[in-house]
Amino acid sequence: GTTAALIPAAGSGTRLGLGHKAFVTVGGLSLLARSVAALAPHVDEVLVALPDGLELPLGIKARAIVGGQTRQDSVRRLLRATVADTVLVHDAARPFLSADIVLTLLEAVAETGAATVALPVADTLVGADAGEMWGAAVSREGLWSVQTPQGFRRERLLRAHAQAAADGHVATDDAGLIARQGGAVRLVRGDTRLFKVTTPGDLALAQALAPVWDA
Ligand code: CTP
Ligand code: MG
Repeated sequence: GTTAALIPAAGSGTRLGLGHKAFVTVGGLSLLARSVAALAPHVDEVLVALPDGLELPLGIKARAIVGGQTRQDSVRRLLRATVADTVLVHDAARPFLSADIVLTLLEAVAETGAATVALPVADTLVGADAGEMWGAAVSREGLWSVQTPQGFRRERLLRAHAQAAADGHVATDDAGLIARQGGAVRLVRGDTRLFKVTTPGDLALAQALAPVWDA
């Protein structure tokens, strides 16, 4: 079967505050260029969802489509723009993706039909009350943080998106849409370096890591 990488990159990067986040560079390469380069060797095609009016910079080998109002809308549009049997959905904002993780994920998807990269939670967790005071403690036992890429048989993910749209349910990832339909999702161990560049602090980490990663 064929495989496509689907990269939602149509967000506005509000929390980072540097304009369109996918085009922000670390170590001389944009977050988007790094994400595309990490996936391209392992798939038949790469599709990127961009904000309306923006074009792919020269040198990024992918097909661009216009994204939507939410990440979920952007992924749904990406799903409709390919006929690949298998899709790997990956946030443009996670630039440090290793070949090892992509290959492990592809194996898991081939076996199960739905899998995501994720990491066991390392910090102590607590709920904050209204006054930002320590509220209810939450055991981190058995809790994982969900990352991307996430892999699916395309038809399966399309069904999950259609159901979510019909229910008015908006999620921040795709594996969660499979799970809410009762579908099984395999967890594949990720890496702290696969963090999402969300805040200025994350960008500082990415800038520090880039030369080490590229060496
Ligand atoms: N994304 C998208 N379409 C949207 C919103 C988000 O394709 N309408 C993409 C982002 O470009 C990013 C990924 O989804 O690659 C994860 O989203 P996030 O980290 O929240 O990025 P932004 O939405 O751009 O940032 P912010 O929420 O701070 O505005
Ligand atoms: Mg966002």
